[in-house]
Amino acid sequence: MSIDVGRVRALYPALAAGFAYLDGAAGTQVPQTVIDAIAGAYQMGIGNVGGAFPASGRADAIVAGCRQAVADLVGGVPDGVILGPNMTTLTYRLANALASGWDQGDEVVVSRLDHDANVRPWVQAAARAGAVVRWAEVDLATGELPAGQYEGLVGERTRLVAVSAASNVLGTRPDVAAVSAAAHAAGALVYVDGVHAAAHGPVDMAALGADFYATSAYKWSGPHIGAVVADPALLETIHPDKLASSSDLVPERFEQGTSPFADLAGVSAAVDHLASLNPDATGDRRRRVLASMAAAEAYELELFAELLDGLEAMGHVTTYGKAARRTATAYFTVAGHDPRQAAEHLAARGVNVWNGHNYAWELTGALAIRDAGSAVRAGLVHYNTREDVDRLLAGVAELG
Ligand SMILES: Cc1ncc(COP(=O)(O)O)c(C=O)c1O
Repeated sequence: MSIDVGRVRALYPALAAGFAYLDGAAGTQVPQTVIDAIAGAYQMGIGNVGGAFPASGRADAIVAGCRQAVADLVGGVPDGVILGPNMTTLTYRLANALASGWDQGDEVVVSRLDHDANVRPWVQAAARAGAVVRWAEVDLATGELPAGQYEGLVGERTRLVAVSAASNVLGTRPDVAAVSAAAHAAGALVYVDGVHAAAHGPVDMAALGADFYATSAYKWSGPHIGAVVADPALLETIHPDKLASSSDLVPERFEQGTSPFADLAGVSAAVDHLASLNPDATGDRRRRVLASMAAAEAYELELFAELLDGLEAMGHVTTYGKAARRTATAYFTVAGHDPRQAAEHLAARGVNVWNGHNYAWELTGALAIRDAGSAVRAGLVHYNTREDVDRLLAGVAELG
């Protein structure tokens, strides 16, 4: 069963205004159920967690529900779900905690494909520890991150390999399982950035070999909350900086300060929403999420073929990346127009796209497009339509 896009769109109040939201890679709109869950948390009365009174108990239940929901999304367990403001903050926190155990001459492997949030925290932590950084390179002609190179990048000193499950600009989906196999054979941990990937298809962090899987709810119809999921037994071995007075339990010891509890209720509602995308899906929420995200992926890729074919047929457009496995994310330049001008032209026609490096800092540098404003990014999520694609293509054609 594919996505009934008319039914799905009706769930999102913001889509009624008629814009073509092709900016989902930078954050999606949210369905009414997410808005209601956030408002509902405040309406029923919530306190801080751990108190003796009912409103505190409701906050406890929201946190527990959110951990379960994120676990259901990625195939983890609730006690391994660390919640925080966003992926970048959590990755810095994990990098600093892990690096406190690294020695001079240890090694970490990062990739030129990744969003900078899965690069710089590791590079900076490595510098403080005296560890060596090794780089996995992108095949610039295809946008692939060849997994074969990792055999030569890892060794007995490798402590961690950081790799993206999908590029937020090219859409490339590297063979993370192969990367993880090489890393694990060398005894290294694997930190997978699933921020872009999780919005576009089913996630099974065990199948990926991810010791850590990072995701952000605002990319998949939820509020601005990030999460990192790991085996609780692994988290028990890591000791981040924390207040003397705060919980030393896992996963709480990785979470600093008071959480935005109402937003966490919104995260659970977002996972419920994803699980409902395919109304024919049955079973528990994990199974329904997997079936629904498989349907979403198929729907997005079918539409994306039209988007990409349309762009590639235009002589004044250059597209970047043609990976064999990718998300529905296009990155392109338009001859004679810098990316910002192109995005402004499209915005004037009600088409929302991003321009710039989009934090794919190393990649846009390697492609030698960063100094010229990088490129335009147009991405599809499960609520986009053929009409959105047609409007994009018509707007880009006018620039020729
Ligand atoms: C692939 C990828 N990784 C990491 C991030 C950073 O996520 P956050 O905004 O939650 O820190 C983003 C955000 O755009 C992203 O697309």
